[in-house]
Amino acid sequence: MASDVATAGGSVGLPSRHPWVPVPFTVEQRSTETPDTVSFVLVPPPGHRRLSFRPGQFNMLYVFGVGEAAISISGDFEETDRLVHTVRLVGKISQALHAVGPGDVVGVRGPYGTGWPTEEAVGRDVVVVAGGLGIAPIRPLLYEFLHHRDRYGRIEIIYGARTPKDLVYYNEIQTWRSHTDLRFQTTVDTAGRDWYGDVGVVTTRIPDTRFEPDRTVAFLCGPEIMMKLTAEALRARGVADDRMWVSLERNMKCAIGICGHCQFGPEFVCRDGPVFRYGDIRRFFSVREL
Ligand SMILES: Cc1cc2nc3c(=O)[nH]c(=O)nc-3n(C[C@H](O)[C@H](O)[C@H](O)COP(=O)(O)OP(=O)(O)OC[C@H]3O[C@@H](n4cnc5c(N)ncnc54)[C@H](O)[C@@H]3O)c2cc1C
Ligand code: FES
Repeated sequence: MASDVATAGGSVGLPSRHPWVPVPFTVEQRSTETPDTVSFVLVPPPGHRRLSFRPGQFNMLYVFGVGEAAISISGDFEETDRLVHTVRLVGKISQALHAVGPGDVVGVRGPYGTGWPTEEAVGRDVVVVAGGLGIAPIRPLLYEFLHHRDRYGRIEIIYGARTPKDLVYYNEIQTWRSHTDLRFQTTVDTAGRDWYGDVGVVTTRIPDTRFEPDRTVAFLCGPEIMMKLTAEALRARGVADDRMWVSLERNMKCAIGICGHCQFGPEFVCRDGPVFRYGDIRRFFSVREL
């Protein structure tokens, strides 16, 4: 990380700031992605230094008086003056986040977590599989591939959602699909007659996906059952468990490896993840709140 780059929490031009104290960011833009999902552009306070994060990292977003939630950073890491987050309405905190709009202030601390190990993919074929809101922490990875296309071999992306109206980043998907140097497939579980694309869960697209198994890495993000079945389907095509990575979600409080809320087997998801090598965590996979 360059010396003039600051993380969102802890060092926002205030070196002595406690790591748990959120930095007040202002909502610059709010956009509706799907009926239950919105994206926010957040800008730091005046005097803030450049922001930096790795694809796959997350921030803790704090709605004052309500609480904090871990939310993946879903914007372009080359835009160092803003943060983009995408939030699905689920419960108390996501509801409060949905209620904020331009001019409102949200607390931010982070970035936290390991991120996608893009260096493992250099010179190799890449398979990316996202399900539902799993596309949010995947999007910065796609920007990495687009910014540095020459570093990677064949790139195959599969994105699945429940229905066409649940496809997040719908307009951007059309742009990704127009790229001739990668393949972006979308599929939905169910659709009406106005949908001309694929229907079926993401694993139904794996047999049609082109890659050299012994030189392929895979990045998977979505519901755990989806990642498990996808990893099995890729393994059946010859991709080794050690060359697949998954991003996990667990309840978080501190996000800095102290409280133990996010424990996953011998690991803490906030500190050691959320991205894990599938071969390392396979035996703990699909076990809730170990
Ligand atoms: C590393 C990491 C990255 C994350 N990135 C994002 C992101 O980019 N966008 C985003 O919207 N959320 C993300 N989450 C989930 C987020 O942190 C919260 O769990 C979620 O917003 C729900 O919080 P809440 O307070 O609104 O709901 P709560 O009040 O905590 O929960 C309400 C109900 O929803 C259930 N629930 C909680 N979380 C989920 C979930 N994720 N999916 C389905 N049901 C759930 C609970 O069991 C409960 O029944 C991430 C989580 C982690 C650990
Ligand atoms: S959230 Fe506290 S240890 Fe991970």
